[in-house]
Amino acid sequence: MTEQSFMGGFSQLALGVCYYPEHWPEEDWVEDAAQMRALGLRCVRIGEFAWSRLEPQRDQFDFGWLDRAIATLAAEDLKVVLCTPTATPPKWLIDECPEILPGDPASGHVRGFGSRRHYDFSSTVYREEAVRICSVLAQRYGNDARIIGWQTDNELCCHDTAHSRSTAAGQAFQLWCESRYGNIDDLNTAWGNVFWSMEYLSFDSIELPFGAVTETNPAHQMAYRRFASEQILRFHNACCSALEEHIQNQWITHNFIPMKDTQTDCFALAAPLDFVSYDSYPLGRSEFLLGRDEPELARRYMRTGHPDYTAFYLDQCRGLKNRGFWIMEQQPGPVNWAPSNPRPAPGMVALWTLEAIAHGADVVSFFRWRQAKFAQEQMHAGLLRPDRSQSDAWHEIEDVVRVLNILKEESLPQPQAQVALVTDVSAQWVSDIEQQGQGVEAHRVTFQFYRALRRLNVAVDIVSHSADLSHYALVIVASMPIVSETLLEACEQSDATLLFGPRCGAKTPEFQIPPNRAPGLLEPWLNVKVNSVETLRPDVTEPFEYQDQVFQSRLWCEDLTVADATVAAYYQQSRPALVRKGRCLYLATLTDDAFLRQLLGDLLKEREVVICELPEDVRTMTRGSVTFAFNYGATAYTLNRLSDLPLNAEFLVGDAVLAPRGFSIWRSE
Ligand code: GAL
Repeated sequence: MTEQSFMGGFSQLALGVCYYPEHWPEEDWVEDAAQMRALGLRCVRIGEFAWSRLEPQRDQFDFGWLDRAIATLAAEDLKVVLCTPTATPPKWLIDECPEILPGDPASGHVRGFGSRRHYDFSSTVYREEAVRICSVLAQRYGNDARIIGWQTDNELCCHDTAHSRSTAAGQAFQLWCESRYGNIDDLNTAWGNVFWSMEYLSFDSIELPFGAVTETNPAHQMAYRRFASEQILRFHNACCSALEEHIQNQWITHNFIPMKDTQTDCFALAAPLDFVSYDSYPLGRSEFLLGRDEPELARRYMRTGHPDYTAFYLDQCRGLKNRGFWIMEQQPGPVNWAPSNPRPAPGMVALWTLEAIAHGADVVSFFRWRQAKFAQEQMHAGLLRPDRSQSDAWHEIEDVVRVLNILKEESLPQPQAQVALVTDVSAQWVSDIEQQGQGVEAHRVTFQFYRALRRLNVAVDIVSHSADLSHYALVIVASMPIVSETLLEACEQSDATLLFGPRCGAKTPEFQIPPNRAPGLLEPWLNVKVNSVETLRPDVTEPFEYQDQVFQSRLWCEDLTVADATVAAYYQQSRPALVRKGRCLYLATLTDDAFLRQLLGDLLKEREVVICELPEDVRTMTRGSVTFAFNYGATAYTLNRLSDLPLNAEFLVGDAVLAPRGFSIWRSE
């Protein structure tokens, strides 16, 4: 259950922008700030890549320009979010300490200077440098009322930087292994190193799991991923502590990329933060998710993003700290980094902004103020073009400002959900390491359950395996090969209906088959055992019957022995596809969306949760008594008082006809 919003110094929903004063002549700043205010923006994020201007040479700081930029923004009553610049160590630092640079896992080559994120999370030299610059900044600006808070670094792990094949990483991994396993025989046993004669004689001979002839031991890879995640946390926690030591009445956040891309335990990463921020780029990222496996969907939603894709991450953001979040970067037009970079359909920038708010964002900040006229992102839109003329997004933001003015009278508590989807980074690790079948990936499986739930018009909390589950009607663990005792205790404390997807419980924490076979710790809950698993070609589906209807199984199919439990559906002639024991269900196969909607609909109705199947392109989301409805489609849709529109709905914005790529907002007590 989400506790509270995080307004971070604002008394109502607010908009902001990402700004790079160091990219523009100082004489432009006054007009920039005045225009930001005139547009209705309230906060400005600055400084995340500015190390070379803040400290042009070691210990020679230049804060003059930053002081003047902050003063210029503050003069227009714009609040500043100041960033630590650790995503871009400057050239002098790399020349002084080249060991900061990370190693490319695939090739082993040093990932050199000349872009960004060129540092190794295992470099103790860099950790000290990062802490040093954070401390210097916090000492100077930590008590400055014009600065409401801090963003750490920028998009940790972006550009595949979670993993490194450097000397520093290798040495740190050996020490990590020693502290986890204690003696080398235990490590060899835990990993099963007798297989292929992979046994080690000492910790200092352990290799990183890269660059071998064929796949390295999955247990070795798993240990490395755990280690890498902990290194990232250690680096980030050190930066947060350095800030905390000096700041007063300021908050700390970090701008996350899609959680799966961090390869990190994001719940732990969020722990030292006051709230989570997210960088929302619906088009390119939706293309990455759908482009390969569902090209027809990717084509259809090329200019809008899939209707559930962005929301999937928005709900993850809310779940990371169980509270409201910010969008720190919102896509304003075509970006420059996806395989193709279409223009958003007219209306989408406004729709995405309000959708973020509907899912619990309290502030949305656009990336970026003005399109850069030099360097890597010249092709990336901003709110202004390089010559200061207004880009397409400008008028949509004016519309959003008008909507926020209407909403300021409303109380907007965080969304409340009766359904929880439980996730854990280990699920992603297992499916990355041992995919077994093309297209079988934990986050895709979880997304499929999510989108089925959203089509049924229910709100979803995405929570960790250690979350309190007691207030949910339905708890879904879509993909979790490593099931923890903590999760099972939380399941026991709750009376929710529990649905486990295929492969749940199939691995021990050390990446072995559990002694009692899959589903391991879940066996007593379900009285099933997995005999074997097959995976299917992505272009093959096979029919199965459930409730007298025919659905399709796909990709991953288990053969189960069922003891004392009910088989609710069979497939492949006589194989159990869905098993139920009391309030607990286990699904033996991945399926089509239609089956998930049918099953989840049945389970929700059983628990008296109100559902209503929405059209493919329409979604709604509720905060308190205010509901937002969005139409991702190219044709208008009329909401219906008998199904998706409450009888007592009073429109605040729009009406029952949702325009293409449009939205309506109503109050219903
Ligand atoms: C983000 C990043 C920004 C900018 C933007 C372009 O991932 O944080 O610095 O590069 O992408 O879309």
